[in-house]
Formats: sequence, C-alpha cells, structure tokens
Amino acid sequence: MKRILSGIRPTGKLHLGNYLGAVRHFVDLSRDPENDCLFFIANLHGLTTGASCEAAMEMKEDIIGIVLDYLAAGLDPEASNVLIYAQSSVPEITELTWILSCVTPLSELLGMHHFADKRDKLSGAGESVNAGLLVYPVLMSADILGPCANIVPVGDDQREHVELARRTARRFNDRFEKDFFPIPDTMEGEGIRVPGLKGSGKMGKSEPKGTVNLTDSVEQVNHKVMKADKMLPANPSSVLSPVEPRIGEAPGIPDICRVFHLHDHVTLVADDPVIGRIHSGCETGTLRCGDCKILLAQRMNALLEPIRERRTELLASRGRDLAMEILVEHGRRARALIAPTVEKVKDLVGVPSYRRKEGA
Ligand code: ADP
Ligand code: TRP
Repeated sequence: MKRILSGIRPTGKLHLGNYLGAVRHFVDLSRDPENDCLFFIANLHGLTTGASCEAAMEMKEDIIGIVLDYLAAGLDPEASNVLIYAQSSVPEITELTWILSCVTPLSELLGMHHFADKRDKLSGAGESVNAGLLVYPVLMSADILGPCANIVPVGDDQREHVELARRTARRFNDRFEKDFFPIPDTMEGEGIRVPGLKGSGKMGKSEPKGTVNLTDSVEQVNHKVMKADKMLPANPSSVLSPVEPRIGEAPGIPDICRVFHLHDHVTLVADDPVIGRIHSGCETGTLRCGDCKILLAQRMNALLEPIRERRTELLASRGRDLAMEILVEHGRRARALIAPTVEKVKDLVGVPSYRRKEGA
C-alpha cells in the first residue's frame, strides 16, 4: 500500500488550477485500491493569511464548499481507502509542528520562495508579516510526515515545500531513528502551474477575475475567458521575450500565448484531439483570437459540466449535512491513524505524554 496525502487551504472556492494541478490526481490516485488516500483541508494554514472574525466565518463555509467540490470532482467518501478531513481535527499535527520546528534550520524557512513572495506582498501593502507564515512549511511537513505519507500530489508552486518535508524527514531519521519517516515524494514528472486568465500570477483564489471556479456557470466561464489577457505572465526562468503573441490578423506565436497555454492544460483532461489544430491555426493565422477564446470557454465548460452537475445534485440532496458528517467521521479516523506516530515521535525526542496506556 502507498499512502497518498495532500491538502488545500479553505481560502475561497476551488478553481481550475486546483483541479488540474491537484484534485484530478487525488481522484485518479483514489481509484487504485493499493493507495491509501488522505485528502484534507488545511484550515490551520488558512489562518496565516486571514485571522479575523469575518475570515473565521468564511473559512467554515469554505470548508463545506471544498468537501462538496472534492465529492463533485469524483472522490468517494464511502471508499475504504479515502479520508477527507479538516487539519484542525487532528491536534497532534500541531504538536508535531513544534517538534519539527526544532529540527528545521531557520535559514531554510527564510529562504522559501513562498515566504519571500508573501512577505514582499504584505510589506509592499504596509501590512505586517505574521510568524505563522514563516512556520507554514513546518506545519506542512507535519501534515505529510505525521501520517507517514509516501506520495504528495501538488501543483508546481508547492513542490519546494515537499522538498523541505523530505529534508526534514531525513534530518529526523538521522538524528533519532533510522527509517522512522518514509521520505515523501511528489508525483512523477513536473507539477503544473496553470496561469491565471489575467494578471501576472498563477490561477489562484486571490485573483478572482483571472480564475475559473469549479462552481462557475457557463456564462461566467464565457465572460471570464473572453476577457482573458493573451500575453503570458512573466516567468523569470523563461527565455521568451514578453511580446504580444498576436497583433491584429497577423499569424500568432501560440507558445507564448496564455490562451494557448490554457488550451494545452485543458488537454490534460479533455476528451478531444483539437490541440494540434489550435496550435497550427494560431501559427498560420487561420484561427482568430476571438474564436480561439470561444473554443477555450467551450472546452473548459465541457470539462466542468459533470462536476457542476454532481455538485448541484449533492446540494439538492444532503449536501451540507453530508459534508459535515464526513468531516466529523473521517476527522475521527484520521486522528486515530496519525496520533500513534506523533506519540512515538514525542517519545523519541524525549517529551512523552506521560499518560496511562488505554486499558492499563
Ligand atoms: P490557491 O493558490 O488558489 O489558494 P492552494 O494554495 O490552496 O490554492 O492550492 C491547493 C493545491 O492546488 C496545491 O497542490 C497547489 O499546488 C495546486 N494549485 C493551486 N493553484 C494552481 C495552479 N494555478 N496551477 C496548478 N496547480 C495549482
Ligand atoms: N500549502 C498547501 C497549499 O497552499 C496546502 C497544504 C497544506 C498541503 N499542507 C499540505 C499540500 C500538505 C500538500 C501536503 O496549496
């Protein structure tokens, strides 16, 4: 058996970037009975970017929404190899975070791109940077190592965090017990990064206009796609110059067009062979940009339709109640599974719980 684990922060609705970069892998991996799958909602991580009374209410709503999105995307909560839980249902994870923070060099945390980006954004806006943002990757290491995960399916932006979890596992094993934690891996191949329809970043919950949510209606998808920018967001590692991929009716350069890149990403799950025609149509100037966008909206809508249908069905039946039941029951099972490992860690590092063994 392989243990698969991944999480998503409840900071808004799930979007196409989440689906293509992460959730579609959750669904595929969960269909293999040889995989034991833990998919959680990282609400403690959610606190790092929004700790307020209003955010607290929203986060509790978003959790329900994400459970429903997971189910609508195809996760089966009845399957014996699938757990869907909230991170906060397993308090041992926070204990483990403290212990791991004591074996994690500060320099590594300060060097994380994710932290540097967030710190620059916040400082730029005159806001303070909380300590949780710095410790964020250690909490993630605890999420991964607590359940002894083997594979962590994530999009490209989270890979450096999984790398840190690998280093942390090695450090811990070297210091305390050989082979105690398995060394977690991401999925084979590169993680993907779906660009937003607008702006300079990836598609993400913080950029609503450039983001197609799994719950968007056909009209919303059409509207957002028709307003998409064409120029790709600047990528520091790219050698391509930031030129407009197409001017007027002239032939285009699909490889630097964000609309083409989005077509390419949709191809990862689309059941159609049109990508070659889109590429050559752009390159030869026979496929106009407007028509290319209409086609992208159609392809996105075709991909989202079954998810929308299933979500509507879920909401019409026991949707919210079902989501709550799953959080309670799977949360209990996840805790029972993770707590013994954290107990062993506490003992290994010299801070046992000093409790009577059950039944003794
Ligand atoms: P967001 O950035 O929208 O808040 P999360 O950080 O909660 O999303 O990401 C949850 C999962 O979805 C992670 O595995 C992350 O790598 C993946 N993901 C998020 N946005 C994208 C994207 N634009 N392209 C590919 N994967 C993504
Ligand atoms: N930090 C991840 C994100 O924003 C979510 C997450 C938290 C996660 N803990 C994790 C992902 C453990 C994989 C494994 O996307």
